[in-house]
Amino acid sequence: MKSNKLVMVSLLAAALCMVAVTTVSAAPIVIKFSHVVAENTPKGQMANKFKELVEKKLPGKVEVEVFPNSQLFGDNKVLEAMMLGDVQMAAPSLSKFKKYTKSLQVFDLPFLFDDMAAVDRFQQGPAGQKLLHSVESKGLLGLGYLHNGLKQLSASSPLRVPADAKGKKFRIMSSDVLAAQFEAVGAMPLKKPFSEVFTLLQTKAIDGQENTWSNIYSKKFYEVQPYITESNHGLLDYLVITSTEFWNGLPDDIRVEVKKCLDEAIAFGNKVAAEKSVSDRQKIIDSKRSTIIELTPEQRQQWVDKMKPVWKKFEDEIGKEYVNAAIAANKK
Ligand code: LMR
Repeated sequence: MKSNKLVMVSLLAAALCMVAVTTVSAAPIVIKFSHVVAENTPKGQMANKFKELVEKKLPGKVEVEVFPNSQLFGDNKVLEAMMLGDVQMAAPSLSKFKKYTKSLQVFDLPFLFDDMAAVDRFQQGPAGQKLLHSVESKGLLGLGYLHNGLKQLSASSPLRVPADAKGKKFRIMSSDVLAAQFEAVGAMPLKKPFSEVFTLLQTKAIDGQENTWSNIYSKKFYEVQPYITESNHGLLDYLVITSTEFWNGLPDDIRVEVKKCLDEAIAFGNKVAAEKSVSDRQKIIDSKRSTIIELTPEQRQQWVDKMKPVWKKFEDEIGKEYVNAAIAANKK
């Protein structure tokens, strides 16, 4: 009787020990989220919200470490690092995937979308959802789209008509469509990382660049660019991306919960994007450091006429189904 009791107690102690060991040894899954922009931007806010939600919903199970301002990787390195497992999530601009797929170039076609509602319709429709998987054969998976907004042209001299851009050097993201877009107006495009743009502008190594209001404001481009043309000529949105190996390796229940947190963080980031496209524009006006040029319909049409022929050059490699679906998304 006594020895039975002793066996029971020993078994219980051993079981408790095992539970304790498992609990202590189950280290949380770490998601390193790397991005290149400031924290007070749509992407910066989205990443921070994602961390907050994940760590609230999955305490002790998943930790998110956010690295803003190209602290960990620039956009030219982040996808390679992701495939090596050095970073688990990122949200590069859709213009930075050319090494992995040609189809995402659709988002760079100038004057393609009438407004952000059309962008939404395209991204959430069948063609946009299919594009989330366009990098899967390379070991990457798009988890969702995040908005920043429409791009404006900033420069050291006023740009009202395409001829004003002739011979000027513009920094662009690593996209051949964007290169062709600037070449179409006789300008010289230079592919450079985001982290170098301010210095290039400040030292006058380049004359201008294209970006959204929130990037122009948060990175202080407006302090070194006396003119900003409100052209709304193209889109800057992001693909929230992970590696298929990391994503498929997550336990099912964790993956479902992380995805829910991400969807909520993206919805929050999109709200921030809409607000900032108005408030950061206003802050730039209030600073009086840069003059905002509003185009007349005739002036805008001149930019459209020069840049839109770029579509033809790229539609085969992008895939006509995507270009047509994007055009159709403009109709409400
Ligand atoms: C840029 O390089 O201009 C942008 O893609 C930066 C960003 O991520 O918004």
